[in-house]
Amino acid sequence: MSLLKRIEAALEQQFSLTRTASAPPRLMDAMRHAVFPGGARIRPQLCMAVAKACGEDDHELTDAAAVAIELLHCASLVHDDMPCFDDADMRRGQVTVHKQFGEPLALLTGDALIIMAYQVLARSGRQHPMRTVQLLSVISEGVGAPDGIVAGQAWECETRVELSQYQRAKTGALFVAATCGGALAAGVDPAPWRKLGDTLGEAYQVADDIRDVMMQADQLGKPAGQDAHHGRPSAAADLGLVGALDYFNGLMQTAADSVPLCESREAMRKLVLMESERLVPPSACEQISRQYPTSATSRVSA
Ligand code: IPE
Ligand code: IPE
Ligand code: MG
Ligand code: MG
Repeated sequence: MSLLKRIEAALEQQFSLTRTASAPPRLMDAMRHAVFPGGARIRPQLCMAVAKACGEDDHELTDAAAVAIELLHCASLVHDDMPCFDDADMRRGQVTVHKQFGEPLALLTGDALIIMAYQVLARSGRQHPMRTVQLLSVISEGVGAPDGIVAGQAWECETRVELSQYQRAKTGALFVAATCGGALAAGVDPAPWRKLGDTLGEAYQVADDIRDVMMQADQLGKPAGQDAHHGRPSAAADLGLVGALDYFNGLMQTAADSVPLCESREAMRKLVLMESERLVPPSACEQISRQYPTSATSRVSA
């Protein structure tokens, strides 16, 4: 089974457990709306790929870690789209949760998904309680303060922001949780996997900033031009498109080079390269070079 199919099945199974006669139906619908259909599901797939590379022996715990990470990501998107943050109407090609269900239910949907993430881990951790305690800790670091998503979003309320710190908190930290969580679910020391998550996560946000400038809403499935519109710190604004693309390529190269020695090292390096092309397609690179012909950028190499 592909990792994508595996995470979809694990998420579906989680939702089938939650739908009871006692549940408020509109809240349940809003929660489903926030999670299905998914986006790239990159974080849970990364978590599962690392667990496999580390000799995964507890599939239920890997699934729980991957599901928890995706639920936390979806919760962060629901809250991020609300009027008090980015006030976005579209997400993953459909209307946002607050547009469809109203702000009170959007707030509660984000909260409920966060709590569901911890419930999944609590339920699946009986076989390996020590691993589960460590998973709870690493995943919490990825979403909370001082360095997780909450902190990252909070930097938007400060007057002085350091771009890399902001991006590593709002996006990088959950990628660290994904790589380290995959190792922990397999009972392996997560330390060697931290750098991969950190660099890939920061690269992911740099790419998101480039895409926000270069692509249209129908390609993104969410509004374009939002960073300039809201005056958000962004790699494209700070470094220019050429500088941002260079920075992105450098981070992706570091990410590929930081895959620890393991049987699937080559396969994982290839995945990083493929992600690099998916995030910033060659056509976008060509467009940037055409606009700024004197500046050379080099892509990630195997
Ligand atoms: C969107 O994340 C928010 C960022 C951190 C850039 P993704 O680009 O992973 O969104 P989905 O899950 O694929 O929709
Ligand atoms: C990531 O930043 C948001 C979260 C961490 C939730 P963006 O605000 O740039 O993400 P998009 O562009 O809305 O997906
Ligand atoms: Mg946003
Ligand atoms: Mg964005």
